[in-house]
Amino acid sequence: MDLNVVEPFTRSMAKMVPAVFVFGDSLVDVGNNNYLTLSIAKADFPHNAEKLGLPSSPPYLSLTSASNKSNAFLGGVSFASGGARILDGTDKIFRQTIPLSKQVEYYATVYVNLIEQLGTIEAQKFFSKSLYAIVIGGNDILGFFKAGSDAHLKNTPQELVDSMTLMMTGYLKRLYNLGARKFLVAGVPAVGCCPLQRNQNKTSGDCNEESNYWSNKYNEGAKSMLQAMKTEFKDINYAFSDSYNVLLNLIQNPANYGFTEVKAACCGLGNLNAEVPCIPISQYCPNRTDHVFWDLFHPTEASVKIFIDTIFDGSQQYVSPINVRQLVAL
Ligand SMILES: *[C@@H]1O[C@H](CO)[C@@H](O)[C@H](O)[C@H]1NC(C)=O
Ligand SMILES: *[C@@H]1O[C@H](CO)[C@@H](O)[C@H](O)[C@H]1NC(C)=O
Ligand SMILES: *[C@@H]1O[C@H](CO)[C@@H](O)[C@H](O)[C@H]1NC(C)=O
Repeated sequence: MDLNVVEPFTRSMAKMVPAVFVFGDSLVDVGNNNYLTLSIAKADFPHNAEKLGLPSSPPYLSLTSASNKSNAFLGGVSFASGGARILDGTDKIFRQTIPLSKQVEYYATVYVNLIEQLGTIEAQKFFSKSLYAIVIGGNDILGFFKAGSDAHLKNTPQELVDSMTLMMTGYLKRLYNLGARKFLVAGVPAVGCCPLQRNQNKTSGDCNEESNYWSNKYNEGAKSMLQAMKTEFKDINYAFSDSYNVLLNLIQNPANYGFTEVKAACCGLGNLNAEVPCIPISQYCPNRTDHVFWDLFHPTEASVKIFIDTIFDGSQQYVSPINVRQLVAL
């Protein structure tokens, strides 16, 4: 795995917070899916080495023995899993992922372990200074607006985003009850602009306006929910990253960032390299640093780096009410 993006982030984080606990989907999955025997959403294809996310806390499922669990838990753990959604449900595409509900329950076992190791008082201090990074929601929207999906027969998009926000509220409160005080919550990116969604319109390759609209709706709901939580629980602090507009800015102003290709994936096959995922038979673009997208729906390392820089040091336009550097310094 190429750690160019992750290592500097982890190193700087390591000095600032005792631990980073990561929850979410493939954007931050550092390998949990490799431990799921049935999962086809695995992170260990060599082609996918560039697809990286936030800090490199070790994958929870890699920690098998009691001794290495105890040590590793103290530095934080990643529970993230490719294909994961906020809403539970059978995911027919990915077949086996760790949904957010399960990720939070795994964290509950880590919580108990750390209380045993550190004692209640030290452990609560440790939790309150640690960062809880939650990067999820894109798969809920993508699944709903996928070509051929019948999800809209059962629920309206408004019902979808309302239940996403409601479930997220429950998980954040559960984490709060398990010691968490500092949250980084990433909004859903403009998923309608990923190659998979653009490929739904073969003639124009334009962004799917509908899935973008509802991604934005969810983000608005999540942002208000976080404000309400902060009012209810005065001792929490959070950074909400407007991933939607971070991505849209790259797509609309590519030259500012050295990008020349904002539509097609770097790795894949067919129209926009979006008809076949990035698997060993796929084609690579010659220069991945000029592409915004790595595969059907993952950004390239170059895009992820901009994303990380933005949530870390960005202005309130993209990360609010404070950025991650300010959050961890509290
Ligand atoms: C975890 O512990 C087992 C058994 O003690 C050991 O074989 C393994 O190398 C350890 N793994 C890590 C990542 O430290
Ligand atoms: C494809 O995009 C064009 C241009 O934005 C639009 O006019 C057309 O309705 C779209 N087709 C479909 C099937 O969405
Ligand atoms: C690849 O793209 C980047 C960004 O546009 C550019 O700076 C670099 O020179 C390119 N490399 C090659 C080998 O073309």
